[in-house]
Amino acid sequence: MGCFACFAPAVRAGMSGDPKPPKLGHHCPEDSSGADARRKVAPDVGNGCAHSFTFKDLLVATSYFNEANFIGEGGFGKVYKGKISKANAQGVVGDARMVAVKQLARESVQGSHEFLVEVLMLTVLSHPNLVSLFGFCAQGDERLLVYEYMPFGSLESHLFDVPLCKQPLDWNTRVKIAVGVAEGLSYLHNVADPPIIYRDMKAANILLDKDFSPKLSDFGLAKVGPVGDRTHVSTRVMGTYGYCAPDYVLSGKLTMKSDIYSFGVLLLELITGRRIYDASRPKPEQSLLSWARPFMHDKRKFHRLVDPALQGGYPPSALNQLVVISIMCLQDQSHVRPIIADVVIGLKHIANQPYAPERLLESLCSPSKCGSPQYVHTPSRRRGGRRVAQYS
Ligand SMILES: Nc1ncnc2c1ncn2[C@@H]1O[C@H](COP(=O)(O)OP(=O)(O)OP(=O)(O)O)[C@@H](O)[C@H]1O
Ligand SMILES: [Mg+2]
Repeated sequence: MGCFACFAPAVRAGMSGDPKPPKLGHHCPEDSSGADARRKVAPDVGNGCAHSFTFKDLLVATSYFNEANFIGEGGFGKVYKGKISKANAQGVVGDARMVAVKQLARESVQGSHEFLVEVLMLTVLSHPNLVSLFGFCAQGDERLLVYEYMPFGSLESHLFDVPLCKQPLDWNTRVKIAVGVAEGLSYLHNVADPPIIYRDMKAANILLDKDFSPKLSDFGLAKVGPVGDRTHVSTRVMGTYGYCAPDYVLSGKLTMKSDIYSFGVLLLELITGRRIYDASRPKPEQSLLSWARPFMHDKRKFHRLVDPALQGGYPPSALNQLVVISIMCLQDQSHVRPIIADVVIGLKHIANQPYAPERLLESLCSPSKCGSPQYVHTPSRRRGGRRVAQYS
């Protein structure tokens, strides 16, 4: 097993252009150049080492990728729950820990680039609202990523098509998630040096801890932001359909404000409980933005946006403020969208006006019928569904 900390210098070279393949398994945790570069990217925090696991380590951790440990599948490949014990993870201190092991599908070409960027990014970035990468495996053709296990899965699975026997997210939890996501983004935009543009904000990439604290995941598309006098980075347009800012789609010019637009979409999804695109709905309602626009233009109609699953359980003035923040983030012209620091301030103000839980109506499912309303993870399987849109 090796340590990845000393790849940090390559991050700066790699993220701004085509990353050169790192020398895997190169041990030099004390290497001062690596440590300096990591501080440069994350001045006061550090994710430490990402361990280089052998494929056998991960076979053992996941019980040979047993179907019982299957969590879900995205465009990158399958994800399995696993347990890394002290015995097979030198340097992982403490007791055995639960991990999520993401295995790159062999046919994925773009995936091997994303694998590299993901490892490089998460090795140098660290924040409570960013998922932690424990390590990776790059042995032969195998490419696997080993993350901290997030017991409540993705925000997507809690927000959309929630089965009747599962408790829908209440208002306060939605606001808490919005604040946490914004803080993670604020870290990328304002603390990381150079700044990082996330480029993959969407409900599927927000993972939830036991207390519904959110963490951003999937950094394979992340880019170093513009530095110096530059206002944007020019790049092939990539992202997920509907979440990409229109200016970015049209020009290929990526800015921090592209993330702000995607965050505006996420806020609207949190408010409405609707996906940005949902083919299962009647035609006029398939596009969330088209459906929501008439309501967003008239403050008296903001309440029509609200997810019916909330059953009226929200503070009206806080709703108005949240819708306004979403509208500001979703503006077509990037320069009039707010910066993330201001969004965080606005969201924290909303979080300070919580909805009194006693006013929440009974949950859709009585515990006697469905057992305690604990989260039950249902594996998601979406073949090749990661990038529903790759422009150009
Ligand atoms: N660290 C983790 N802990 C727990 N579950 C995870 C973790 N990482 C991913 N998952 C789950 O694995 C599944 C697949 O995730 P993955 O990130 O590969 O795809 P996705 O985000 O759903 O789609 P896309 O490929 O478009 O990003 C999702 O259900 C996700 O919730
Ligand atoms: Mg994902």
